[in-house]
Amino acid sequence: MINSTSFVINLAYFFSAALFIYGLRRMSSPISARTGIWIAAIGMLLAVAASFSHPNITDNHWLIVFAMLIGGGLSYVHAKRAAITDMPQMIALYNGLGGGAAATIAAVEMLRAAEYGASERILGVVGALIGCIAFSGSILAFAKLSGWAKFGNWFSNRQTAYVAMMALVLMLGFILAFSNTAHPILLLMFFSLALLFGIFMTSPIAAADMPVLISLYNAAAGLAVAFEGYVLGNPAMMVAGTLVCAAGAVLTRLMAKAVNRRLSEILYSGFGIAHEISEATTQYNHVNEVDAADAAVSMAFAEQVLIVPGYGMAVAQAQHKVQELTQLLEERGVSVQFAIHPVAGRMPGHMNVVLAEAGVAYEKILDLAEINSEMSKIDVALVIGANDIVNLSARTDEKSPLHGMPILDVDEAHSVIVLKRGDGKGYAGMDNPLLQHGKTRVHFGDARESVQKMITALKALD
Ligand code: TAP
Repeated sequence: MINSTSFVINLAYFFSAALFIYGLRRMSSPISARTGIWIAAIGMLLAVAASFSHPNITDNHWLIVFAMLIGGGLSYVHAKRAAITDMPQMIALYNGLGGGAAATIAAVEMLRAAEYGASERILGVVGALIGCIAFSGSILAFAKLSGWAKFGNWFSNRQTAYVAMMALVLMLGFILAFSNTAHPILLLMFFSLALLFGIFMTSPIAAADMPVLISLYNAAAGLAVAFEGYVLGNPAMMVAGTLVCAAGAVLTRLMAKAVNRRLSEILYSGFGIAHEISEATTQYNHVNEVDAADAAVSMAFAEQVLIVPGYGMAVAQAQHKVQELTQLLEERGVSVQFAIHPVAGRMPGHMNVVLAEAGVAYEKILDLAEINSEMSKIDVALVIGANDIVNLSARTDEKSPLHGMPILDVDEAHSVIVLKRGDGKGYAGMDNPLLQHGKTRVHFGDARESVQKMITALKALD
């Protein structure tokens, strides 16, 4: 006979899994994403409540509540304070903590090895390994993106060390998985090496490869949670972990494709090794400057204008002004479109979210493949706070960390106007030959103020 408590708990897990799936489905569009997040959060609340009422949890309810209050409180304050531009760091941090939580569960359960069968022990060990790598790797990624740790290869002979460490950690994992007694010392060695491996993997990664790695760790953390869910016999953890893993894997693939890298290149061949972010700024001495009024006139008399938003537009919070500029141009009969590079900004879909917030219609937004073949028809390409995604060195400079990444080919438009504040080089820290290209004119200043000046100039034309 089915025990009524376990029936209710499993039913709650079933509903929470359904809510995760439905929430994720809604997150696929910026219009419904907000409700999708709420739905998934309700699913999580239900899963936590169900786990809390599990009969095996008998004497440490207060400890759990205390831990939840600390974790929930800290993340609430952190999320409230974080700027939209801090999102990649936040994603890296929270992914990493998910992997760390899975690894911690594994550590506790592996100390009770005698209570488990071989399949649980094997998945427990694999989950622990993946969770540790996701944890330490993501924490280092968080530190790098926050500017607390430098890019660079901290280890020499990387490939050899990779193989040696992996062989050792697998050997320890093998012993732990196939032994039905606990080995605390081996366990400690296994976890230390796995954590070190994550640091090792992340240390040389830089520039355009960073978002790919973060989403890979996201997938890895999900997989670790799913495996530990199997060990604990917790279906909500299995479903939630599998969903995170699948979404992270799809995103990793898309991001790697967007920057034209194979994952193996990013992880093994030392991409980014020599690419320290440059601290020095190069003075762009030979740029053709343009004032806002002239830039506005060029666009007012164009047939087709393409707006290329980048990270700087989000920093300046210029999106509402950009939408106003678009409307003014359209009232004059100019066709205005937007081109979004897959890694523009600092998180996947960053520019889509920012433009959607300002009310830019989706049908005006084109992706890289769609617009590049049409670029020669564009009269004016207006690049707002973007650098790497239009950096011409990606095509030719083999030493550039951007080399091989497809860019938006704005130099094929009839003319280019770039809005930026000064000599900043963008995320990859590379000079951009576009700024000194014959077709390019640069307007220096904060993007929001620059666009406002263009709006004023356009209005004065009437
Ligand atoms: P960036 O290459 O970072 O260039 C930003 C540009 O905006 C710089 O030229 C900067 O020059 C300018 N800028 C900054 N603040 C400004 C302001 N207030 N007003 C006007 N201009 C301003 O951005 P991007 O072209 O969007 O490329 C994104 C980069 O981030 C890629 O390398 C990508 O790999 C990386 N990344 C992306 C993600 C995701 S998933 N999207 C995640 C992590 C990293 P000044 O300082 O001279 O103004």
